[in-house]
Amino acid sequence: MTARILDGNALSAQVRGELAEQAAALTQRGVQPCLAVILVGDNPASAVYVRNKVAACEKAGIRSLKFDYPQDAEPAEVLAKIAELNADAGVHGILVQLPLPPRFDEKAVLEAIAVGKDVDGFHAENVGRLSQGQPAFFPCTPHGVMKILEYGDIPVTGADAVVIGRSNIVGKPMAMLLTQAGATVTVCHSRTRDLASHTRRADILVVAIGRALEVTADMIKPGATVIDVGMNRFPAGHPKEGKLCGDVEFEGASQVAGAITPVPGGVGPMTITMLLANTVESARRAADAGGR
Ligand code: GUN
Repeated sequence: MTARILDGNALSAQVRGELAEQAAALTQRGVQPCLAVILVGDNPASAVYVRNKVAACEKAGIRSLKFDYPQDAEPAEVLAKIAELNADAGVHGILVQLPLPPRFDEKAVLEAIAVGKDVDGFHAENVGRLSQGQPAFFPCTPHGVMKILEYGDIPVTGADAVVIGRSNIVGKPMAMLLTQAGATVTVCHSRTRDLASHTRRADILVVAIGRALEVTADMIKPGATVIDVGMNRFPAGHPKEGKLCGDVEFEGASQVAGAITPVPGGVGPMTITMLLANTVESARRAADAGGR
C-alpha cells in the first residue's frame, strides 16, 4: 500500500486565506487582529519560530508586536510587559515563546497571561476548559492535527488512537482533543513498555517523541493514519544527513499506512495557522463585545 499524503501546506494555505479575509473584515470594523510575541534569550530555534510567526501574521493582515529580551533579563520585567499587554485593548493575543531561560518560572509566566488572550492555550484555565469540553483556546499543534484529520476525512469517533508523547504542548492536549472527538486514546511515553504493541493497534497514530526516525513500518497497523509531529534532521551517516525529517521513518511507514503527514509540509505549517486562527477568534470576540 502507498499511503495518501495529508498535505499540511495545502490545508494551511487554504485556512490562512480564509483567516486573511476574516482579518480584513475585522479591520474594516475597526478591530485589526493583533498578536504580541515575547522572546526571551538566544535559543536559535526559538528565534526562527518567532520570525516565522511574525511573518505569517503580516501575510494574513494580522498586526504583530515583537518584544525581545536578553538571556539574563529579569523575570519581573517580562511579567510587567505581560501585564501591560493584558491591559491593552488593541492586543488580542499574547504569546511567550518557550522554552524560557532556566531562572524563569515558566508556569508563573504562562499564568500571568490573560486567559482571553492566551492564544497558545497554555494557561491552566484554558487547559482545564479543554479537559472539561468547554470552549477554550486549544494549543496550536494538536489543534492543527485535528484540522488535518478533518480535512483528510479520517474518522475519529470510535477510532483507536495512540499518542506517543505526554508534553503539555502536544501529547496531553492531543489526547484530550481526540478523546473529546470520540476516539479511544492511549498515551505512550518514554516509560511505556513494549511501545510497538500499542502502536500496532492504532487506527490513528500521533507521534511526538522528538527523535528522528523512531517509528518504523513494523510498528504501524496496515491502513492506519500516521501523524508525525517531529521536526529533526537525518542523523550522521544517513544518505539524507542534515535534511529535515520527522519522528517517523517515512519511506517505510508510507508503504504500510493508509494516510500520513510528511515532514516538512505536514503538521508544522498547521501550528502557525492555528495560532493565527486563535488570534483572529480573540479579535472577533473583542469586536463583538464592542471593543477594538
Ligand atoms: N515552543 C515550542 N512550541 C511552542 C508553541 O507552540 N508555543 C510557544 N509559545 N512556544 C513553543
